[in-house]
Amino acid sequence: MTEHPLLMSPIRFAAPDGSLRIVRSAQRPDLEAICQIERAANMSPWTQGDFEDYLAGGMDGPIVLVCCRESSYPDAFAVGREISDEFEILSIAVAPEEQGKGVGLILMMSLLRWAKSRGIARWILEVREGNTVARKLYASCGFFETGKRHGYYADTNEAAILMTGESPVPWEVRQEMHCFRGVKLFNQ
Ligand SMILES: CC(C)(COP(=O)(O)OP(=O)(O)OC[C@H]1O[C@@H](n2cnc3c(N)ncnc32)[C@H](O)[C@@H]1OP(=O)(O)O)[C@@H](O)C(=O)NCCC(=O)NCCS
Repeated sequence: MTEHPLLMSPIRFAAPDGSLRIVRSAQRPDLEAICQIERAANMSPWTQGDFEDYLAGGMDGPIVLVCCRESSYPDAFAVGREISDEFEILSIAVAPEEQGKGVGLILMMSLLRWAKSRGIARWILEVREGNTVARKLYASCGFFETGKRHGYYADTNEAAILMTGESPVPWEVRQEMHCFRGVKLFNQ
């Protein structure tokens, strides 16, 4: 469990409403909270076994991050993995009561920062065509559409939109690393 990729230390942010949010690597005790968030946020949730595999994936496996308020259980998580010289965002989910407060952006900033620290400068993902909130989030992180797979999601027959982003990320281009769209980063 200690062998999957880890953030060296937690990252501290202030959300646009001023609340303190901490992003850290997921550990096994976070599993229950992660599964709860997943079930509440996703129409086709991954199983606990899927997350156990991710957490036990070894140094070459995905990184799993959680976001929480101070001294609290996680209310959001994100999963990404390196594929050759690219970084793939595999999943991101925020508990329904915390959505729309900048937490998704905080997690994206954390994932891309981690990828950059590994020398990766290009990121990819797939998103349901109808998921306008997620597409908006990714666009604000500099992702652009590169393709479409029709009928990709078996549950709804919905298309997947393929998106790619590259370094530098928008908060670097605009030199807003410390405060981007109301999100403040405390530690470098
Ligand atoms: C998609 C998701 C991760 C975004 O996280 P979030 O914390 O809600 O998003 P943020 O608060 O960081 O906002 C990101 C953008 O989406 C917008 N947004 C957030 N919630 C919204 C809503 N309910 N309606 C419309 N726009 C919304 C925000 O305004 C923001 O855009 P802006 O910067 O232009 O204002 C989250 O909504 C979620 O968990 N959804 C369910 C699971 C999911 O769809 N995951 C993605 C799979 S690819």
